[in-house]
Amino acid sequence: MSAIVLNGVRKSFGANEVLRGIDLTIEPGEVVCVIGPSGSGKSTLLRCVNLLETPTAGTVHVGGVDVTDPDCDIDAVRRRIGMVFQQFNLFGHLSVRDNLTIAQRRVLGRSKASAVEVARANLARVGLSEKAGAYPAQLSGGQQQRVAIARALSMDPELMLFDEPTSALDPELVGEVLAVMRGLADEGMTMLVVTHEMAFAREVSSRVVFLDGGVVAEQGPPAQIFGAPKEARTAAFLKRVLEPTHVDL
Ligand SMILES: Nc1ncnc2c1ncn2[C@@H]1O[C@H](COP(=O)(O)OP(=O)(O)O)[C@@H](O)[C@H]1O
Ligand SMILES: [Mg+2]
Repeated sequence: MSAIVLNGVRKSFGANEVLRGIDLTIEPGEVVCVIGPSGSGKSTLLRCVNLLETPTAGTVHVGGVDVTDPDCDIDAVRRRIGMVFQQFNLFGHLSVRDNLTIAQRRVLGRSKASAVEVARANLARVGLSEKAGAYPAQLSGGQQQRVAIARALSMDPELMLFDEPTSALDPELVGEVLAVMRGLADEGMTMLVVTHEMAFAREVSSRVVFLDGGVVAEQGPPAQIFGAPKEARTAAFLKRVLEPTHVDL
């Protein structure tokens, strides 16, 4: 069964049609990177998967469940999906450990002892075992984002959505977050990643989706998208992001 299936997904905000018919299927274990210009609908696409945005038309299936069916228990579906945003959204008044245990206890009903054990394992996974007692303000942005990833993982998600997880970070902190994501990919996690990190898309993803103007303009293996794009607008976009000093003004 496919992990995610989008069928004819459209989304309008008022008169602005942001997604204009998206068909996209993601299989378990795939790492799919979504790239494209600012405003092309990347975040909206991601948010339609867990119904943070409700599509205006079309269907979205997650693990075989039609989340666009009004009778769907969307909370149950969201529990199976981890989401990591550009802003880390940690609770500043809670320790790292408590940030990782609160939803486990409240949403999954885990005992304190088992939630703490899961938190411990996931902090180790992101290389932050020694930070369990720290508060978010005591951590670098890269460390905070790794905590946010560990928090999502503590809910045992079937798939992970990432929306520009490194865009708010100083350049020297990007690598540690991408390394954690690469580790997840190597473990077989199903991942849908909106990113501007072209090296990550090229080296880690199984497929690259180029979104432009609310449609999938082109998709394929990274070697094809980066090495021999078929569409002129894919090539133009890649030139702009890979050679930013060569843009005509
Ligand atoms: N909640 C919203 N209300 C109105 N317009 C929105 C909303 N969210 C996004 N948009 C618009 O949808 C378009 C695509 O946004 P977005 O999906 O965030 O693009 P991207 O992530 O590719 O930069 C933009 O024009 C944005 O202004
Ligand atoms: Mg966005």
